[in-house]
Amino acid sequence: MEKERIDKLLAGAGTLSRKDVKEMVRRKRITLNGETVTDAGQKIDISSDTVCVDGTPIALKKYIYIMLHKPAGIVSASNSTSEKTVVDLVPEAFRRAGLFPAGRLDKDTTGFVLITDDGAFAHRILSPKNHIEKTYVATLQSPLGDADIVILEKGLLLRDGTQFLPASVKIISEDNKQVQIKICEGKYHQIKRMFSAVGNCVVALHRTHMGTLELDSALPQGACRELTPSELEQIAPKSS
Ligand code: URA
Repeated sequence: MEKERIDKLLAGAGTLSRKDVKEMVRRKRITLNGETVTDAGQKIDISSDTVCVDGTPIALKKYIYIMLHKPAGIVSASNSTSEKTVVDLVPEAFRRAGLFPAGRLDKDTTGFVLITDDGAFAHRILSPKNHIEKTYVATLQSPLGDADIVILEKGLLLRDGTQFLPASVKIISEDNKQVQIKICEGKYHQIKRMFSAVGNCVVALHRTHMGTLELDSALPQGACRELTPSELEQIAPKSS
């Protein structure tokens, strides 16, 4: 049973401060399982209790996990004064303090971005130690040769000293210019730099999977939805 203070939960769930919640309690606007709450520090069980504000039930999840289909031209950041970010694409219903993208895609990369306020989960899925694969489809300028695949799959050491861990690479088009590549780390411009190291160039990049979870094909570019607990397991099984 997971218990949390009511003021902490409500303040974490949206745009309210703890002071706002205290004031709402004073005005008898909050109920717990139908009874008026009189103490903003009252503990509640988020898995079974029902909390209402002015009679409307409130979603009490501690953290939120959102799958976004990122379009090109959007920055993977929480906030930017000048440019539109992936967090700006999250609709009001899912907005809460502390949302950030768990792993960045370049501005011109499209595909699966996970947006959350759970720092520990983000760390777990991004740490190369946990071997959680991110799968991309890369469109290349030139056909990829077998020798290049061997180099990429062995792990690359760049001249500047950057070491890339072994990737898994599969050609998926007849002209050998479209490939599926799986990597477990997320270094700056990693896939573009990997293909550039074998004399090629990425002309388009799309992330299709995080872990074994595939980007929902029903989500058009720019749209997002919440993940279910079993989908979260598909990204990061509890043992990882
Ligand atoms: N590798 C890149 O080069 N760019 C991305 O956006 C993601 C991985």
